Amino acid sequence: MHSAPFSVEVSVTSLSQENEYISNLDPLKADQLIHKLPFLNQKKDTIELVLLLVDIMPSMNEIHTFDKYQANAAIRDIGFLLGSLKRHQVEPVNIIPELEDKMNLMGEKSGLPPRDTLLHYTVWNPTDFRRRTYTGTQDEQFLIESVVVAMEPLVRCIILLRNLHLTSLSSPEFKIICQEIVALFENVIEGIVIARRKVSPSYFANELRFYFDPIILNNREYLGPGAVEMPMFVFDHLLWSSDCQDEEYRIFKETYLPYIHPEMRNIYLEFENKSSMVSKVCRLADGQVEFNSIILDSLKSLSSCCRLLKSFRMPHKKIAEEAYAHTKKQDLTFTTNENTHRNHGSGGYSTDILTHILNLTNQKIDMLEICISNFQAPESGRNISRN
Ligand code: HEM
Repeated sequence: MHSAPFSVEVSVTSLSQENEYISNLDPLKADQLIHKLPFLNQKKDTIELVLLLVDIMPSMNEIHTFDKYQANAAIRDIGFLLGSLKRHQVEPVNIIPELEDKMNLMGEKSGLPPRDTLLHYTVWNPTDFRRRTYTGTQDEQFLIESVVVAMEPLVRCIILLRNLHLTSLSSPEFKIICQEIVALFENVIEGIVIARRKVSPSYFANELRFYFDPIILNNREYLGPGAVEMPMFVFDHLLWSSDCQDEEYRIFKETYLPYIHPEMRNIYLEFENKSSMVSKVCRLADGQVEFNSIILDSLKSLSSCCRLLKSFRMPHKKIAEEAYAHTKKQDLTFTTNENTHRNHGSGGYSTDILTHILNLTNQKIDMLEICISNFQAPESGRNISRN
């Protein structure tokens, strides 16, 4: 059914080893110092925050010696200071101009933007007593945890989906891969369950999310480490959206593309201008292949993969709307420009984007369901050979 378009091999094991390796690094010797952060944030002590940042900031010479793993561990720790200063309305580069050259050099080494991303905040953040947080609260610990439990399974699902593109619809292997995706994706949904149960919507809306605000470097904004930077849109891309014509969603995906792991970015780019899985199978099932029960099983199992997205997006949208409802109440009393900006997530979008993406996802699921019923319909005049 397909030619093999890939030359690069991405291994989940190497990505999870990388997570552990970076988490263990402390190139700025910040393990002890960074624990002052929740206290300084609570006091809104911007002077001490700047001094701490200057204290851990490596020299250009040191940065030149960093490999990409050390650069990422350093960006992680500096990132906690950047997000903290910004939370207290201090634009870091205005106070420390040399930040720009240093972050740019570390960003170049990391293959990511010149600031911290969701990866730095979550899977590259050490556990236990070495864990870095802005606030030290249980809510924040659980917010980090909700992404950690979801991230690696999602990466595995993306790699499996890439394999699915190379698997024939008439091979029993197709269904097996889909079943693996369904099983793994349970953990992604578990991330949402943790956030729903353990992160207070009002604390998120009125405190936590401000640490993820964009900062200015190189005369432009770089987004903060919000969960919107999960590679969920890469999963969408391979499954249903690489050939989706919706302009708003294309812009959304391209906004976050620089912030995801370079390996995930490569997979996304491999599928640029290619047919998505759903389009491919619908074309095949719409008359080009003879009916058989293996193909029907494959189609149904692909449909289960699509429905996973709904199981993630519906409760997630509810969490987001609940959280932002708390801010809106405040905005009735304070309607400044800043509050208008703050009705938006760390990625700069309002919760409307979640409704839009959910609608697009549902349209594709419906398209696949129609294609499955046509495929099964006896009146379609297919040559029925049930194996
Ligand atoms: C208190 C909890 C949360 C709130 C209030 C929240 C809110 C939001 C908002 C407002 C957006 C729109 C984009 C933007 O940020 O500008 C968004 C997007 C997104 N968030 Fe969350 N979020 C939360 C937790 C999570 C968790 C735990 C995950 C994953 C485990 C997650 C994954 C995503 C993804 C993948 C998107 C992109 C849109 C999509 O693919 O549907 N979020 N979130």
